[in-house]
Amino acid sequence: MSMSRVFRTAVLTGLLLASASGFAAPPELEAKYGKSCATCHGSGVLNAPRKGDREAWGPRLKQGMPVLVGHVKAGFRNMPAKGLCNDCTDADYEALIQFMSQ
Ligand code: HEC
Repeated sequence: MSMSRVFRTAVLTGLLLASASGFAAPPELEAKYGKSCATCHGSGVLNAPRKGDREAWGPRLKQGMPVLVGHVKAGFRNMPAKGLCNDCTDADYEALIQFMSQ
């Protein structure tokens, strides 16, 4: 293999890894997101911070995970209590918040 070929392969591998390095959500989590949080956080309706909108999520994340999870469970301004997910655990909420905020 020539040097340039090795180099090209390395660059391509790097690009693939970079694009795959986002938070990979397990299917159960995507399902929970899809049937509850996505209703508002997919479209940004009622001013919900949209999934993947890092600018909108940044200041909210600064409050820390326990505060965020507490807000979802209790309801927060236009967000109904539990975010429409009746079978979500605290760990689910944490994972959902991570998933939505990147
Ligand atoms: C009916 C619409 C709706 C659903 C469903 C919903 N949210 Fe929200 N959510 C909102 C809105 C609106 C806000 C912004 C509230 C504000 O700051 O005015 C929000 C804000 C948040 C925040 C930030 C709270 C803070 O302290 O800034 C978190 C975290 C959150 N949602 C998580 C979730 C999770 C997790 C789910 C799914 C289990 C979910 N939401 C489902 C409407 C919704």
